Amino acid sequence: MYVITGATGNIGSKTADILLDRGEKVRVIGRNSDRLRRFVDRGAEAAVGNVKDTAFLTRAFDGADGVFAMIPPDLTTRDLRDYQGEIGASLATAIQKAGVGHVVSLSSQGADLPSGTGPIMGLRDQEERLNRLKGTHIVHLRPTYFMENLLMQIPLINRLGVAASAIRGDVAFAMVATRDIGACVAERLVKRDFTGTSTWDLLGQRDISLDEAFSIVGSAIARPGLKYVRLSYDEAATGMREMGVSSDVARLFVEMSRALNEGRFSVGRPRTPKNTTPTSIEEFSTTFAEAFAASTLRAAA
Ligand SMILES: NC(=O)c1ccc[n+]([C@@H]2O[C@H](COP(=O)([O-])OP(=O)(O)OC[C@H]3O[C@@H](n4cnc5c(N)ncnc54)[C@H](OP(=O)(O)O)[C@@H]3O)[C@@H](O)[C@H]2O)c1
Repeated sequence: MYVITGATGNIGSKTADILLDRGEKVRVIGRNSDRLRRFVDRGAEAAVGNVKDTAFLTRAFDGADGVFAMIPPDLTTRDLRDYQGEIGASLATAIQKAGVGHVVSLSSQGADLPSGTGPIMGLRDQEERLNRLKGTHIVHLRPTYFMENLLMQIPLINRLGVAASAIRGDVAFAMVATRDIGACVAERLVKRDFTGTSTWDLLGQRDISLDEAFSIVGSAIARPGLKYVRLSYDEAATGMREMGVSSDVARLFVEMSRALNEGRFSVGRPRTPKNTTPTSIEEFSTTFAEAFAASTLRAAA
């Protein structure tokens, strides 16, 4: 039986679906039973609770052949690294107490760097925390920038007709679809083909710049001239705060954008069959177009 944290999210939902499609036993974790119902209807067991609650998590991990362990994002938290540390410690303690043998942990590109990577520093902490566990085999997946991040631009495209962030538009970097991360998680859980502690890069299908990515998704939403605008770091932080992101998270996201712009991670990484995944930005643009159509329908309603 496999236990999936963040089961209603991008990666967790795809992982759970793949495992259920294969007829595997799955326990899905989330905070809301209604949101987990679609997995229960397909035969999964639901564990409803908060991953900060170590006693709950220990029960949820009991009997697992493998666990997918992720720290969910919280864009409003006052101190992101503290928040990541609290959940990371809860996950680690529960893994140990439940005696889980195999863990697929969600980390990130850049987790090898000792400083200056914003939210990725908390994932580096988590790699180190989990690596200290005795008797558990752990693989840390290190995906690059998610293609799903592009979906966060939909409100701005609807409002102002452009996409914008602090990342340079002309730098080609690795970008991955979360369905490919979910496929890797599911495969690792079923095969359990890792021992000790290790890392696994996931770099997407090819490197691509944001100028190119928005040109491709622009065509998919019948806005062929869609432009990507690079914001200054101050403009990006202000824009995030105006959208309800906490000052600390905005500061850390700007730090991460700066590191990407400087090519400190995800840029020019050597590709191999192991770290390259199938979904292209052209294929992902269909997902983008569906989300965009749903947003315009909602606005019209
Ligand atoms: N975005 C990127 O480019 C990138 C790149 C590399 C790594 N990452 C990592 O990927 C993570 C995001 O993965 P994702 O996109 O799959 O996540 P996601 O879509 O945000 O899903 C996370 C899920 O976790 C659940 N959750 C949130 N807080 C919880 C809590 N306190 N207790 C229990 N469940 C909770 C939520 O479900 P309910 O609301 O139903 O409980 C949510 O659906 C980030 O946190 C980051 O560490 C991101």
